[in-house]
Amino acid sequence: MKTLTGKVALITGGNSGIGLAAARRFAAEGAQVIITGRRRKAIDEAVARIGTGALGIQGDVASIEHHEAVAAHIHATFGALDIYMANAGINTINHSAQVSPEEYDAQFSVNARGVFFGVQKMAPIMRDGGSIIVTGSIAAEKVLDGHAVYAGSKAAIGAFARSWAIELKSRGIRVNVLSPGPVDTQILAKLGIPPEGRDAFEQAVAEEIPLGRLGRPGELADAALFLASDASSFVNGVNLRVDGGMALL
Ligand SMILES: NC(=O)c1ccc[n+]([C@@H]2O[C@H](COP(=O)([O-])OP(=O)(O)OC[C@H]3O[C@@H](n4cnc5c(N)ncnc54)[C@H](OP(=O)(O)O)[C@@H]3O)[C@@H](O)[C@H]2O)c1
Repeated sequence: MKTLTGKVALITGGNSGIGLAAARRFAAEGAQVIITGRRRKAIDEAVARIGTGALGIQGDVASIEHHEAVAAHIHATFGALDIYMANAGINTINHSAQVSPEEYDAQFSVNARGVFFGVQKMAPIMRDGGSIIVTGSIAAEKVLDGHAVYAGSKAAIGAFARSWAIELKSRGIRVNVLSPGPVDTQILAKLGIPPEGRDAFEQAVAEEIPLGRLGRPGELADAALFLASDASSFVNGVNLRVDGGMALL
């Protein structure tokens, strides 16, 4: 039997990067996968790549109504949820002196508020013994240039996750943080690095990582599968860094 046979898994931001890699891995392991994201076309393409009856729901994690609608849909269609990977996130790099209120609010509404209310709305439909995985970042514990707001938003969800691990203990729901280091996904292009500067950027980042390279989405998917499955049945409240050792330097 596959690792996630019979499990229902929801991944926010599952139409790209780490979320898509996790969705593909979970589906390959037998899970019924549901992904969300804002871009319809990217959702449809991702659903086709995931295969095995994956479902895509369009919406914005900053909206509480979106989470309520997703929870109602999953409850009506699949009965319950076993795995919730709150993964959607955005990042803008800017020195604190230049950060606008809009930029601050955008990152906190997706990275922190979106995760908080997502878990608040999904927890009631989760089966006892389920797994919640929150995608954090090593930026929450290692100072990275221009990342103050992003780091704050990711630190917030680390604090949420530790509280939830206690609040949900009577139901046996485990809550863990998966903290990537730099991973080769679209988020890097979204940082505004021009294509001609991409190699130099990658080289500079790789030098900050003991393993000497960026991570691959599939490597984060492997760690997410561990946290989602019974392989981590006694792992609760941890912050699992998957960063090639970057936090050590
Ligand atoms: N890649 C890295 O180096 C790295 C490092 C540390 C942490 N992380 C974290 O890993 C997670 C995944 O990032 P990634 O690297 O895979 O980047 P990505 O390829 O840019 O994926 C981000 C995902 O989030 C979704 N998303 C963004 N805003 C959303 C919103 N308001 N509502 C719903 N969905 C939204 C995007 O879909 P739509 O655009 O369609 O909405 C997309 O699916 C994020 O939380 C990120 O902070 C990444």
